[in-house]
Amino acid sequence: MKTPGLRVRLAEAEEALRAIRMGEVDTVVVAGKDGSKVFTLEGEGHAYRMLIESMNEGALTLTANKTILYANECFARMVKDPLEQVTGGPFHRFLSVEDRAVLGSLLKRPRRAGFKMQAKLRVGGGSEIPVNISIRPIANHDSRTGSGDATLSMVVTDMTGAHKSEERLRALTHRVLQVQEEERVRLSHELHDTITQMLCGILIYSKVLAKGLTARDVKSKAAALKLSAMIGATVDEVESISRNLRPSVLDTLGLAAGLQDISAEFCKRTGIPVKEAFVKLAARLSADTELALYRILQETLRNVEKHAKARHVSIRLSTHVDGVRLVIHDDGKGFDSDSGSLPKGKRRAGLGLLGMRERAASVNGRFKIKSTDRGTETEVRVPRLPL
Ligand SMILES: Nc1ncnc2c1ncn2[C@@H]1O[C@H](COP(=O)(O)OP(=O)(O)O)[C@@H](O)[C@H]1O
Ligand SMILES: [Mg+2]
Repeated sequence: MKTPGLRVRLAEAEEALRAIRMGEVDTVVVAGKDGSKVFTLEGEGHAYRMLIESMNEGALTLTANKTILYANECFARMVKDPLEQVTGGPFHRFLSVEDRAVLGSLLKRPRRAGFKMQAKLRVGGGSEIPVNISIRPIANHDSRTGSGDATLSMVVTDMTGAHKSEERLRALTHRVLQVQEEERVRLSHELHDTITQMLCGILIYSKVLAKGLTARDVKSKAAALKLSAMIGATVDEVESISRNLRPSVLDTLGLAAGLQDISAEFCKRTGIPVKEAFVKLAARLSADTELALYRILQETLRNVEKHAKARHVSIRLSTHVDGVRLVIHDDGKGFDSDSGSLPKGKRRAGLGLLGMRERAASVNGRFKIKSTDRGTETEVRVPRLPL
């Protein structure tokens, strides 16, 4: 039960806060351990205060030791705390230990232009919301005017909506890639089970035909032999397409063998020599991760063949701290990789690069491409542990 005295004091405090917010108060005296401190809320700032109150972002000013001197209503709603409890309290209580450390180290490097950080804001009920925090040091006011020691201003933006859309987009891309893989498996089986089988039948009959023709039918016999050879080559080609569609080599022989397959095929097709360095992994990666690396190499080499005019290619599979790294380098003509893969006069987003980026992201990996006029280097890092 509240005593009448406490109730009166609370009512007074609420009235003081209301008056501050409405711009009716110019100066606030805060009593602390080291005596009283005076904070001036300049009269001409009233219009700004009104603006800040109507914002959809959290706005705060903090003292040097990160005590909240001022917070707007929106911030209080964001953290689901009454404004009276927010004001005067430490800002740290809304941050995780890691985010506190990040903020601390950012503040150690004073930058007049301010800085930004992403954080998880701890809100009432033990939940967290993703936010962007924009921080700016406030020029210290003249102490003679007694305008206090607010040193930081902050704008806190709730990113929940943006994160949800990003997650949905990522899930959708992941699904698209999955469906594409399923469709490739189906097509691969169909090619193998129908076309290859039929071609094999035709091949046998063409051989029988060639054999049946006597030496006197020179022309026909030569044509029949040529036909058999062509059908044989077609069978090989269809089998190779089928294999590319469904890299069963990954299931049976593992990642390095899969990568080697693509590399050998590239070399055979283009005549460009490939230097390979594949580390032997102690354990298999997840099937999704192996497939992502396989597809990325496939697409990268397709790009080398199509665009690079390279004379040499190298492929390196190595381990790093907590995962595996695949680096593909070509000494071709390169392209402007900073402008989002769009060479001049060709303003359309390349699906290849986009797909590779998404494939890496879908297995928690990172994709980087660096290109100069002396060549292009593509790097993918994926975690060793399954997702
Ligand atoms: N290894 C490379 N060497 C030179 N240019 C490249 C290389 N890889 C990609 N590019 C450039 O980046 C563009 C985008 O590639 P990509 O997204 O795969 O689309 P696409 O291959 O269909 O054009 C290519 O059109 C090409 O100009
Ligand atoms: Mg491409």
